[in-house]
Amino acid sequence: MYRPDSIFEFSLNHFIKFGAGACAELGYEVRKFGGSKALIVTDKGVVGAGILQSILQPLEQEGISYAVFDGVIPEPTDHTFTECLSFARQGSYDIIIGVGGGSAIDVAKTVGILLKFGGELLDYVAPPTGQGKPIPGMGTPVIACPTTAGTGAEVSPAAVISFKELKLKAGISSPYQRPTLALVDPCLCISMPPKVTATTGMDALCHAIESYVTRQYDRKAMPDAPAKRPVYGGCNPLSDAIALRAVELVSDHLRRACDNGEDLEARWGMSLGSLMAGIAFTNSGLGLVHAIALSLGGKYPISHGETVAILLPAVMEFNAPSNFAKFEEIALVMGEDTEGLSRGDAAMLAVQAVKRLAADIGIPSSLKAVGVAEKDLPLIAEDALKVQRLLVGNPRRVSTAAQVESVLRRIY
Ligand SMILES: [Fe+2]
Repeated sequence: MYRPDSIFEFSLNHFIKFGAGACAELGYEVRKFGGSKALIVTDKGVVGAGILQSILQPLEQEGISYAVFDGVIPEPTDHTFTECLSFARQGSYDIIIGVGGGSAIDVAKTVGILLKFGGELLDYVAPPTGQGKPIPGMGTPVIACPTTAGTGAEVSPAAVISFKELKLKAGISSPYQRPTLALVDPCLCISMPPKVTATTGMDALCHAIESYVTRQYDRKAMPDAPAKRPVYGGCNPLSDAIALRAVELVSDHLRRACDNGEDLEARWGMSLGSLMAGIAFTNSGLGLVHAIALSLGGKYPISHGETVAILLPAVMEFNAPSNFAKFEEIALVMGEDTEGLSRGDAAMLAVQAVKRLAADIGIPSSLKAVGVAEKDLPLIAEDALKVQRLLVGNPRRVSTAAQVESVLRRIY
């Protein structure tokens, strides 16, 4: 007999420190976690932008020794992870600081696990690529300092690895892999170029919206053992409160952050919105937008943020009938006036609000505009259908490639 689940779980980083100038307290934080020799994991873009000075200075003031590994690349490969790991194993570091976008922070998180527990990368990668061994506990402490506002990597339990030879992406995920401390300083985002601000910001909006409308935790079957309850457990009252506020923050601040990168109030709103969206979706889950983005990302060199930004309105249009009330809430926090409208029409205003925001910040309005070939749509749809771990959370059931293709055609 069908029995709905009645329990939700919620996990978080051990600590979060947020605010303009928070990086100045990095030395104190390293000491707090017993660190005396830090490994900084970052990329050459961060070094080139001069951001690293805000990280190194507080460490030097506290007399903490450090080394910098700046070999992280976008969409880091298994080689990036193993290269950083062998660097880390040569230096007896007792704390790791990830500075950058999602890539540098992901590498830092996994290296923190392997440095503490030994073994090799593939031991913990999800099968069939790796062994899928469970991570036994907290690794070497990791402090995550994001320099973009969107990925949510500073609070996420997952790291994504590109296996170039196998032409696939796989992940390592465990609540123990959430950074020990998310140290979010909006000042680190000041030099982020407008296009990156726009695309990463839309990724944050997408995380917030997909989290908010994902299938609710008690509208699915009770697992037959507690360990089988999925990490992406469906939306719940905690994730809902956080996700909706994240939608509002991004909606209020993204245009300003794109127009003037030095508007610190806008950067503050975006960093907070991204952090909150990350907290929400890493508990509730995502949906069809991210399933398609994974499929499309393997075939075209379009950034993740740009991909989800283009897809989001079309998927919202498809999903809105599943829960008009929640889509109306999204419209309201994005500043739409729904008075006197039917529930259905009010819900559709959320789609319009997202389209307008995307257009205002220069996001292309179609897949064609970013070079996607029409003949590839069936294959993109087929591969998206395979991402069941995300699709089970989509509010509207997605069971055929034809359904996905029809969504793609709405935005082609
Ligand atoms: Fe995303």
